[in-house]
Amino acid sequence: MRKQIVAGNWKMNKDYVDSEILVSKLLEQHHHSTTDVIIAPPFTNLLAAKNTLKGSPISVAAQNMHFAENGAYTGEVSASMLTSIGVKTVILGHSERRAYFNETDEMLAKKVDTALAHGIRIIFCFGEELADRKAKKENEVVASQIKNALFHLSASAWDHIVLAYEPVWAIGTGETASPEQAQDMHAFIRKTLADQYTPALADAVSILYGGSVKSANAKEIFSKPDVDGGLIGGAALDAEHFSAIVNSF
Ligand code: 13P
Repeated sequence: MRKQIVAGNWKMNKDYVDSEILVSKLLEQHHHSTTDVIIAPPFTNLLAAKNTLKGSPISVAAQNMHFAENGAYTGEVSASMLTSIGVKTVILGHSERRAYFNETDEMLAKKVDTALAHGIRIIFCFGEELADRKAKKENEVVASQIKNALFHLSASAWDHIVLAYEPVWAIGTGETASPEQAQDMHAFIRKTLADQYTPALADAVSILYGGSVKSANAKEIFSKPDVDGGLIGGAALDAEHFSAIVNSF
């Protein structure tokens, strides 16, 4: 049985005080559920969020990480810095990192290796741009993003990988992939994994959908057989809204 996951990517939002307010509200709203709930606040708020959430089932993830162990990389954060404060999940490959910070598949493959070497679970993001979809190249683009960053991994490494399909044209635009478009892509991703590894491995990997997921559309998207949850941006910044999405399974 695959894990159902709802993760909130806060991006560059919420200062320390606002972060603590949101975390406390999430704690109040959160009722026991079988869904794994993860929040990814900015680096400056990770430790406080971890402490506030101690003993709760909500876990904390970082939004990025460098591939080097340490050294002269001004402004960067390493895997061991994350594990030293108990952060055991990282989002890698977000389209905003690819677009604004020039992250390439090659760089992401290195980040993936470093995270795994430190026992960090990865929420690996990828997705096509609008021009790719218009050219009917979405499957080709997605397959190459996955292959280039992840297909060097052994089968056992996949225990620590969650995939997040985030079509770039649906992020922050209010335009969501239809539940059918999400399902078609997720089924394609699973087949791509089955072909490279085994059907059993493909069946065990959670694949999240991200891109304008709201409480109003989450239920329908999550009801699709190959959609195992969501990576939520804007709607994760409001406790009631996010909790409603968590409760949409
Ligand atoms: P929105 O939910 O704001 O479209 O963002 C999705 C996203 O990028 C999550 O990583």
